[in-house]
Amino acid sequence: MNLAGLWMAGTEATMWLPPQKSVNGHKVDELFNFILYVNYFFLAVITILMIVFVIKYARGKQEESREPQPSPSHNTALELVWSIGPLFLVLYIFWVGWTGYLDLRTPPGDAFEVHVTGQKWSWTFTYPNGHVDADLLVPVGQPVRLTMGSEDVLHSFFIPAFRAKMDVVPGRYTTMWFTATEAGDYDVYCTEYCGTEHSSMGARLLAMPPAEFEAELAKRSNYLENDPPLVAGEKVYRIQGCTQCHSIDGTDGIGPSFKGIVLGQSRPLADGSQVVYDENYVRESIMEPQAKIAAGYDPVMPTYKGRLKDKAITVLIQYIKSLNDE
Ligand code: CUA
Repeated sequence: MNLAGLWMAGTEATMWLPPQKSVNGHKVDELFNFILYVNYFFLAVITILMIVFVIKYARGKQEESREPQPSPSHNTALELVWSIGPLFLVLYIFWVGWTGYLDLRTPPGDAFEVHVTGQKWSWTFTYPNGHVDADLLVPVGQPVRLTMGSEDVLHSFFIPAFRAKMDVVPGRYTTMWFTATEAGDYDVYCTEYCGTEHSSMGARLLAMPPAEFEAELAKRSNYLENDPPLVAGEKVYRIQGCTQCHSIDGTDGIGPSFKGIVLGQSRPLADGSQVVYDENYVRESIMEPQAKIAAGYDPVMPTYKGRLKDKAITVLIQYIKSLNDE
């Protein structure tokens, strides 16, 4: 008999987590449920015994009716039971946890590789063909391995529906893997407090049947060539994470809005000087964000040097211009 059958997790949502949609997710749920039920059991036993003893040995009734009792020295049988019983219990938890951990840490050799970059406060995904996207596209039924790095501080990549989570650390790579069992649109969160916009540092994971996945990835990969400049520019804006800090409706954010600035005008900098806001200033601010900080903002933007093609910067500038055209 499989002992785990008693607390076997289905794929439905639990009180704690959304429906479980990955090949290894059930291992996490089963161990979690087992430990939870063990806790419920001991909570009940200890609470009930405590109440029984409080009533049974209440001081008032005892004093007159009972002779003083000799205190018992020890009880070998009882001590063996309460030592060896929990020993097997924690060894079982260790065994299930360790084997599950090894499975979760060991990707199969044929996994599809995606590179994940965390930065304040967005995720970007780089595919084997070099395409960078704000969405994580994965084929259903095929293992996916993520190699992850951070541009700035500690983040943590969490896909609740897959029961998969891993820290994303500056200066080193971490990895995780999963196999999606069902097509769908899943949430990704950052679960390491990383600053002001931590709570909005999410992404979308789109799991698709393999053929559909190939087609979608090919389509998205060529947007700089295939789409009109303004459409491509808007995609660069969304995909590269600009949206986290720069609004397109004039609302002030972590950085200045892309709306409400006219190219060719001068604007004040944090050090008190002025700069002409033109194509070259925008380009410099993307490549060397710390060079000229706009007055009133913190120098928190990461550099995009080596991450944006010239074509992408060009269409982004055209897009920013178009926002201020009316
Ligand atoms: Cu990144 Cu929290």
